[in-house]
Amino acid sequence: MDQLEIKNLTLAFGGIVALHQVTMKIRKGEIHAVIGPNGAGKTSLFNCISGVYKPMEGDIRYEENSILHKKPHQIASLGIARTFQNIELFRHMNVIDNLLLGRHHRFRSGPLSGVFFWGRALREEIKHRRKVEEVIDFLEIEKVRKKTVGTLPYGIQKRVELGRALSMEPKILLLDEPTSGMNVEETEDIARFVLDIKEELEVTVIMVEHDIAMVMDIADWITVLNFGSKIAEGTPFEIQTNPKVIEAYLGEGS
Ligand SMILES: Nc1ncnc2c1ncn2[C@@H]1O[C@H](COP(=O)(O)OP(=O)(O)O)[C@@H](O)[C@H]1O
Ligand SMILES: [Mg+2]
Repeated sequence: MDQLEIKNLTLAFGGIVALHQVTMKIRKGEIHAVIGPNGAGKTSLFNCISGVYKPMEGDIRYEENSILHKKPHQIASLGIARTFQNIELFRHMNVIDNLLLGRHHRFRSGPLSGVFFWGRALREEIKHRRKVEEVIDFLEIEKVRKKTVGTLPYGIQKRVELGRALSMEPKILLLDEPTSGMNVEETEDIARFVLDIKEELEVTVIMVEHDIAMVMDIADWITVLNFGSKIAEGTPFEIQTNPKVIEAYLGEGS
């Protein structure tokens, strides 16, 4: 089943066309990679899906309903979570609190209802903490759970950011270059976590990634963007052997 459908999406900044008539179908339960050179429009695509940018033309349908008119927090509440190309965490807070904030949209009791219905607020708090601890176990970051995020190594911060997105219990996870700046070992860890997210948590993953070997290893489907347009889509094998892709991207000596 198509969980997310992107139809003829066009986005421009002044004279720069970031996305041109891009159409994609993301099937439930798959790892869908989006690749392409710098400036191809990959991050812009994520910003459209998460409601940060409003496209000039086209539609984005999540489980058959258009989400084009929705605000970023409403899209997040529907179950579409993301990580950023540049880490966006609260650096002065510890890991647990950053992950708890990831669940913010799920807090039902406000400060006042906490006074009147303290029983419910307490039960909610316990539930949120339990969920966050599950994510911490899943990503194997128990050792740093009480550490201030800004003091952690870069690779671990990226993992914490992934944790914050997972704490939202998303149905679709958008990962923007989850392995950028990582060494081989850290990249392999992330690849394994992304596979586990798909297989154990049954979350659909849409991933922008420069590490082509990693993409070929774990993606079920690949969309290739170049100068804002989709130039190819298919299985890793189809993409690796596609002359257009080789010319535009894979063949550029990288
Ligand atoms: N907020 C913005 N304002 C102006 N131009 C932008 C903005 N965001 C992206 N662009 C432009 O859109 C194009 C695609 O950028 P981006 O989506 O970041 O590419 P990618 O993530 O594939 O490297 C680039 O030419 C970029 O300069
Ligand atoms: Mg980008």
